[in-house]
Amino acid sequence: MGISVLIVGGGGREHALAWKIAKSPLVSTVYAAPGNPGVARYAECVPLAADDLDGLRKFAVSKRIDLTVVGPEAPLAAGLTDLLAKEGLLVCGPDRAGAQMEGSKVFMKTILEKYGIPTASFKVFDEYDEAEQYLLTHRLPVVVKADGLAAGKGVAVAQTYEEGIAFLKDVMERRVFGAAGERVVIEECLPGEEASYIVFTDGDKFVPLPSSQDHKRIGDNDTGPNTGGMGAYSPAPVVTPGVEARVHREIFEPLLAGLRAEGIRFRGILYAGLMIERGAPRVLEFNVRFGDPEAQPLFLRLKSDLVPLLLQCARGKITDAKMEIDPRPAVCVVMSSGGYPGSYGKGRPIEGIGEAEKEDGVVVFHAGTAMEDGRLVNHGGRVLGVTAIGDTLKEAIARAYRAVDKIHWEGAYWRTDIGRKALARRQADDSGGNG
Ligand code: AMP
Ligand code: GLY
Repeated sequence: MGISVLIVGGGGREHALAWKIAKSPLVSTVYAAPGNPGVARYAECVPLAADDLDGLRKFAVSKRIDLTVVGPEAPLAAGLTDLLAKEGLLVCGPDRAGAQMEGSKVFMKTILEKYGIPTASFKVFDEYDEAEQYLLTHRLPVVVKADGLAAGKGVAVAQTYEEGIAFLKDVMERRVFGAAGERVVIEECLPGEEASYIVFTDGDKFVPLPSSQDHKRIGDNDTGPNTGGMGAYSPAPVVTPGVEARVHREIFEPLLAGLRAEGIRFRGILYAGLMIERGAPRVLEFNVRFGDPEAQPLFLRLKSDLVPLLLQCARGKITDAKMEIDPRPAVCVVMSSGGYPGSYGKGRPIEGIGEAEKEDGVVVFHAGTAMEDGRLVNHGGRVLGVTAIGDTLKEAIARAYRAVDKIHWEGAYWRTDIGRKALARRQADDSGGNG
């Protein structure tokens, strides 16, 4: 008999988790709360929302779940891990104290500053007038961040003072993000290229996944409003072995030691959003979970079993950290409902996923889908994550887009340039010799 696993969440990341976890010979039963129609191929979906902490606790206790894996940040910040731990259950995901690394930008920046970890210089404000005064003396562009969770919308990179003040008013006076806007961080804008770096940790040791990069803006060439992420690829060529060594030495080692000194043992997934400038990494943000859609290409590349690492993080002791990674690159193209991240139509039948998955190296992960009258329809903003692996990045991209072309529903939208930046960098590196 294998173990039972409960996956909390219902997006593309959770489909990728279910797909990977269900392959593990250690696992006999997978549940997902709430899951989605794609997850349902690998797991029994339970109609409990990811933020229904008490419902999740009762379910996990009644089934005596051996391992709970939490996809999104909100239940972690609300203390799901603490609740389940009190019942003697294992959870891969930090407790409430650790989840502040994502749940409070003020907490996170204060820790970085205290332990000398490279990040943008910043100031914290809890009074609107003082924040405005400081903002008007700051060099442009200037970055304004709501302290708390704001579903990825709590950050403005303001090119003008008008823009900065309008956002500051939204956050602190109009409270568009509620209590998340009680405090703000105002910080310098860092130049460079972004990348994501995700590790498994028991609070002491850490085991990194390969680098990755997402595409946050809705439009091609990084235009238009921010989204949850319109695509991702791994590896990110900007993260060279030299950069990687610095990320370990200058960021993760001092951070985990610092958190321990603060009495926090972080058990779970720690995701650093980095800005890399001429080989020097600096921290933009931390997330306390896998990225969505970064998890999709990463899990396609992960050849070894994911479950032993999740278990070791949950137990707080990484002892055997073998991880086999496919050297080939992978890409995820997100297909979304037209209109996202604004309003969009739902309930349109989706065709062609089966055909798309006949393409070599392609897996289609569900994010915002639902079953209506026996038909698969779009139900959320991000609908599918069409993910492909290939011998070269170019081939992975071509495969993903060939698969995208086979999938149809009325109003589907996707970016056409996922991975292009990495391709350009690779070509520049190739023509520039070994530099
Ligand atoms: P965050 O949620 O903190 O990652 O911010 C969202 C996005 O805003 C990041 O992915 C960056 O593109 C941008 N950003 C945040 N902070 C900065 C900064 N200090 N300098 C430049 N860009 C930033
Ligand atoms: N794709 C960015 C995130 O998961 O936060």
